[in-house]
Amino acid sequence: MKETLLDEATLLAEFEAKIDAEIKIEPRDWMPDAYRKHLIRQISQHAHSEVIGMQPEGNWITRAPSLRSKKILLAKIQDEGGHGLYLYSAAETLGVSRDQYIQWLHEGKAKYASVFNYPTLNWADIGAIGWLVDGAAITNQVSLQRTSYGPYSRAMVRICKEESFHQRQGYEIMWKMMEGTKDQQRMAQDAINRWWWPALMMFGPHDSDSAHTGNAMKWKIKRETNDRLREKFINKTVPQAELIGLKVPDANLKVSGTDSFGEPTYDHSDINWEEFWQVVNGNGPCNEQRLEHHVKAHQDGKWVRECAKAFQNNNDSINR
Ligand code: 3HC
Repeated sequence: MKETLLDEATLLAEFEAKIDAEIKIEPRDWMPDAYRKHLIRQISQHAHSEVIGMQPEGNWITRAPSLRSKKILLAKIQDEGGHGLYLYSAAETLGVSRDQYIQWLHEGKAKYASVFNYPTLNWADIGAIGWLVDGAAITNQVSLQRTSYGPYSRAMVRICKEESFHQRQGYEIMWKMMEGTKDQQRMAQDAINRWWWPALMMFGPHDSDSAHTGNAMKWKIKRETNDRLREKFINKTVPQAELIGLKVPDANLKVSGTDSFGEPTYDHSDINWEEFWQVVNGNGPCNEQRLEHHVKAHQDGKWVRECAKAFQNNNDSINR
């Protein structure tokens, strides 16, 4: 027993030395159970978010206003599905199967980003999602490229390459609408009014209320805190809104100074945390619909998974 404890202490010291030396932790490395559990939770929920996030946008593929905008939206949604696959693959390296992750999601034991539980009412919402939701995701994911877990970090590097296209295509939609008719300008302003705060909620609770940020920063899973990333996103996005004539829906928004690059920083209102927890805990406008759709799609796709498995088994037996 004493020897095991010594081994454990040695192993923990080696793990912490790697974290301090910015050496990536790899699947076969020893890691504390709590580190593994933290990653199982965060990476799988990140993957769920990517896949469920395809639903609100998917509703508008058949309603896109032009062939060009349809092609762009199709490409973006396809990217999101691929991001989900990278992240499920990274999550599986932690010793939990994809089937198990999906089961936890279907049983309500796993979360996904609350922002995807809001409805997409018109085409301006597709612009707001690309610009604000993917813009927030980029702010978060660029930082996550430096996460301490190797497979997660490498997935982030790959995903970030595609996210900037997602944000740009959304901003282009909003820009075009603001150069359009009065009705189009009203639609774009209505969209930012509805999506601004759910996008800020993507960064999670305040650091002081965050259950996981302490460990996440200690183990370098997160490299910047929820509040820091949220401020970075606000500082970057408010000038983009103002450039095209959109008004950020926050009466208390005002310039508070400049950052080290001379860019403006802002004072702003706080998030409606009651709404945040209502939606996170399953009581948002579309939570039920999103999960029902995911369960049905998973059941409808069962035959595809069975065929792929049978093909693989057949291949394996031929190559034995
Ligand atoms: N939506 C749903 N749940 C949320 C949430 C949100 N916006 N913010 C926090 N939560 C949950 C957490 O999951 C945690 O619940 P749990 O213990 O059951 O998992 C609880 O609220 C406490 O929050 P913490 O801040 O303590 O939790 P984290 O340290 O995990 O921080 C996070 C939350 C910032 C989302 C962090 O997990 C993270 O950075 N995850 C990776 C990025 C990610 O998942 N982004 C989701 C969007 S992906 C996307 O947008 C795709 C793009 O292509 C559009």
